Amino acid sequence: MDVVLVASEAVPFAKTGGLADVAGALPRALASLGHRPALFLPEYRRVRQLGLDLRDADIAFQIPLGARSVEGRILRGRLPGSEVPVYLIHQPEFFDRDGLYGTGTADYDDNCERFVFFQRAVLESIRMLGLRPNIIHCNDWQTGLIPAYVRTLYRNVPAIAAAGTLYTIHNLAYLGVFWHWDMALTGLDWQLFNWRQLEFHGKLCFMKAGLVFADRISTVSPTYASEIQTSRFGSGLDGLLRARSTELRGIVNGIDTEAWNPAHEPMLARRYDIATVEEGKAQCKEWLQAHAGLQRRPDIPLFAQIGRLDPQKGWELLAEVADRLLDSAQLIVLGAGHPRYHTLLDELAQRHPGRCAAYLGFNEELAHQIEAGADLFLMPSLFEPCGLNQLYSLAHGTVPIVRATGGLADTVVDTTPRTLADGTANGFRFDEPTADALWQAIERALSLWRDRETWVRLMRNGMGADWSWDRSAREYATTYDEIARTQRAAC
Ligand code: ADP
Ligand code: GLC
Repeated sequence: MDVVLVASEAVPFAKTGGLADVAGALPRALASLGHRPALFLPEYRRVRQLGLDLRDADIAFQIPLGARSVEGRILRGRLPGSEVPVYLIHQPEFFDRDGLYGTGTADYDDNCERFVFFQRAVLESIRMLGLRPNIIHCNDWQTGLIPAYVRTLYRNVPAIAAAGTLYTIHNLAYLGVFWHWDMALTGLDWQLFNWRQLEFHGKLCFMKAGLVFADRISTVSPTYASEIQTSRFGSGLDGLLRARSTELRGIVNGIDTEAWNPAHEPMLARRYDIATVEEGKAQCKEWLQAHAGLQRRPDIPLFAQIGRLDPQKGWELLAEVADRLLDSAQLIVLGAGHPRYHTLLDELAQRHPGRCAAYLGFNEELAHQIEAGADLFLMPSLFEPCGLNQLYSLAHGTVPIVRATGGLADTVVDTTPRTLADGTANGFRFDEPTADALWQAIERALSLWRDRETWVRLMRNGMGADWSWDRSAREYATTYDEIARTQRAAC
C-alpha cells in the first residue's frame, strides 16, 4: 500500500509533543510491514539547524492564498535509520521561525495562512512528484482541510482523487478555529461554510473539515474514541463524532522501542534491562538525584512528571498534593508551556530544596534520564487521548500513577490483589479528577513501594509488555485496507 502521511511535526525533525513521536515512528513500522509510506512536514527553522541530508527536489509550485500567490519548494530526505522518504515543504516566510505554532505565549497570527499553504503544498507536491497514494493519512487540525480538498478542488486530479483519506485525532482540544473571512484563503467554495461542513459557531474549523470529509476517522485509543462522543470530552463536535461512530476507531500508539529502551539509551548513567532493572535503576536514580541537586537517598521514592505545561496534564492536581507528597518522597518535573505553571513549579521547588527539582524547558535527553531514574511517574491528566509517557515509564520499570482516562485507561492496569496474582498489574489508577483521588492512589503506591519484592514484580510486569509499533501499525494497515476497498467500490 502507498501511504502518504501528513503531520505538522515528527521526530527527529521537529517536536512539541506526542504527535511528533507518532509521526516519526509509524511510517517506519509501516515500512517494515512491507508498505510504502512517505511523510510530509513543514520545513521549520529547527529542521534546517539539524544539518540533515536534505536535497532540493527541484520542484517549485505556486499556492493561491486569497488574493496573493505564494511560492514553495520541496526538499527531499529520509527518516533517519530507514528508507522512508520525507518531503519537507520549504516556505521561509511561513516556516523559518523559532516556534512551530507560536511564540510560547501566543499562537502566530497567520496560522491559518501557514497551514492552508502547507496542506495545499502537500497536495501539489503529490501531483508534481508523480506519487499515487492509496491512502492520505492526515493528523490533527493542521491537516484537517486535506480530506476536504481531496473531495472538492482536487476531485479532478486522478492521482489525488483516487486516494482514500484517514484523519487521526491526536487531541480534540485543539480545533484549528479561525474567523470566517479566512475561508477566502482556503480557495474552497463558500457553500462549504455551513454547520454540517466547515462552519463551527460562526468560524472556520479545520478539525471539523477533517471529521466531515475523511473516509475514516481514528483516534489514539479506544477509550478516547468513546469519550469524544460525549459532551464532556467532545469539544462541541461530539454530535458529529456520534453520527460517524461506525467509521471511527481507536488505535493505541506504540513506542519506538529502540529510542525508548533502557538497554540502549546512550544518555543513561547505566543501561539496564528486565533482568538488571534493580541495580540499573538504582544507579540511574543516584545519577538523577545528583544531577538535579536532590538528596542522594535510595530509600526515598522519587516521583516524576514530564509534559506540556497545560491544564490537560493535571498540573493543578499535582500542585495540590505536592507539599504532602514531599514529606515522604522526592519529585522531579520537566515541562514547558504556560507561564502560570512555570511559577507554580518554581515556587514548589524553592519551598523544598533537595526534595523537589523543576526543569522548565524542553529537554529530550533529560526526559530519557528522568524516565530511567525515577521510581514512579505521575500522569493525573484531566483527559489523555493516548499518552506516551506512561508507556515510556512502563518500558523503564517506572511505575505510573494515572487518571483512568483515554489511553491511560487502556494501558495502565491498576494494582490489586487479583491483578498482582495474575501478573497484569503495572501501575495505579484513580477515577475522579480530584486531589483526594490522586492522593489515595499515591498512598496505595507508597505503601506497596516498601514491599520490595512485590515492587520489583510490578516493574517487571511493565517492562515485559510489548508496546512496540508493530501491533498499532497492523491496525492502521487494516484500516487503510478497509478504506481502499470502499474507495475502489465507489469508483
Ligand atoms: P502530548 O502529546 O499531549 O504532549 P504525550 O504523552 O503523548 O503527550 O507525549 C509527550 C511527548 O513529549 C513525550 O515524548 C514527552 O517525553 C515529550 N515531552 C513533553 N514535554 C517535554 C519536555 N519539557 N522536555 C522533553 N520532552 C518533553
Ligand atoms: C496528543 C495527545 C496525547 C497523544 C499524542 C500522540 O498530543 O495529547 O495523549 O499521546 O497526541 O498521539
